Amino acid sequence: MIQSLDQQFSIFTEGLTKTFGSHNAVDSIDLRVPKGSIFGFLGPNGSGKTTTIRMLLALANISKGSVHLLGYSVPDEIGKALPKVGALVEGPAFYPYLSGRDNLIRFDAADRYADPATRADRVDAALARVGLTQAAAKKVHAYSLGMKQRLGIANALLQPRELLVLDEPTNGLDPQGTREVRNLIRSLASEGITIFISSHLLVEIEQICTHLAVMSRGRIVAQGSVEELSASHILNLAIVTANTQLALTALTSVGINATADGELVSAQIPNGQIAAEQIVQVLVECGVGIKSFNLDAPTLEERFVLLTGEGFDVAQ
Ligand SMILES: Nc1ncnc2c1ncn2[C@@H]1O[C@H](COP(=O)(O)OP(=O)(O)OP(=O)(O)O)[C@@H](O)[C@H]1O
Ligand SMILES: [Mg+2]
Repeated sequence: MIQSLDQQFSIFTEGLTKTFGSHNAVDSIDLRVPKGSIFGFLGPNGSGKTTTIRMLLALANISKGSVHLLGYSVPDEIGKALPKVGALVEGPAFYPYLSGRDNLIRFDAADRYADPATRADRVDAALARVGLTQAAAKKVHAYSLGMKQRLGIANALLQPRELLVLDEPTNGLDPQGTREVRNLIRSLASEGITIFISSHLLVEIEQICTHLAVMSRGRIVAQGSVEELSASHILNLAIVTANTQLALTALTSVGINATADGELVSAQIPNGQIAAEQIVQVLVECGVGIKSFNLDAPTLEERFVLLTGEGFDVAQ
């Protein structure tokens, strides 16, 4: 069967825009979230991630453009899409003096598609999936932040889902909590659920994502598979040596225009211009004593800092 373009993607937007007053908080974005991907939606604070997610789920009006969610047009056909979409947006409000299990029972009861006869089983299965069985009877006010996030994900998993939309699920978690949420996401993805996860911290999600989009000031500045985005046209050369002048001369002889700062000699080289072995050879032939030698592609983090003009860990 040939699927139309918007059906190959769990989320497909065209020119999606949200205007507040005269300011475009989301500015004509074309999101392409392939089915089965773990899609990282990255961007610094205030770049428009939550506003986008709220439009995707019909929690906020679309100012301009279109959204298809699981092939259904939003907001007109949102009722058809929503039963297949689990979402965690800015943390659901739990009743603090009810247990985790009782909170889920309440959420499940509020879902008009949910069969009351199988409610208890559904809730227990969701709790087990996120590793909260032991803590199910504990009151939520005694939960750690990580446990609350997991309860939020359990809530999103009460029904079988094709797509999970998680807005900053690792926000505020300690490294252990972050690892646990990451592992949970990996295992959900291995069941075939598409995961759309936002974060302002690349390092927190880059290990699990198959695809990324990077937002900056309401616009997508990069989007694609992690391999595509990691492919670099530029390599960074960094040599530490006491013989900097000699090194600069040697590098010039093979067409590399380097600069020296203290003992560090550095240059940017087009990928594929020259092999590392050739550079080392000419340095050795010229009698340069090499203390260290590195020829690396910039990390994703370094490249995204260039794209967004700021780091992801922006203090507010
Ligand atoms: N209801 C609103 N009215 C006016 N402006 C808003 C409203 N909601 C969001 N904004 C603005 O839209 C922009 C994007 O905000 P948004 O919350 O989508 O960013 P974000 O990427 O989710 O940031 P964070 O990482 O801090 O969660 C910001 O400039 C914000 O001030
Ligand atoms: Mg946000």
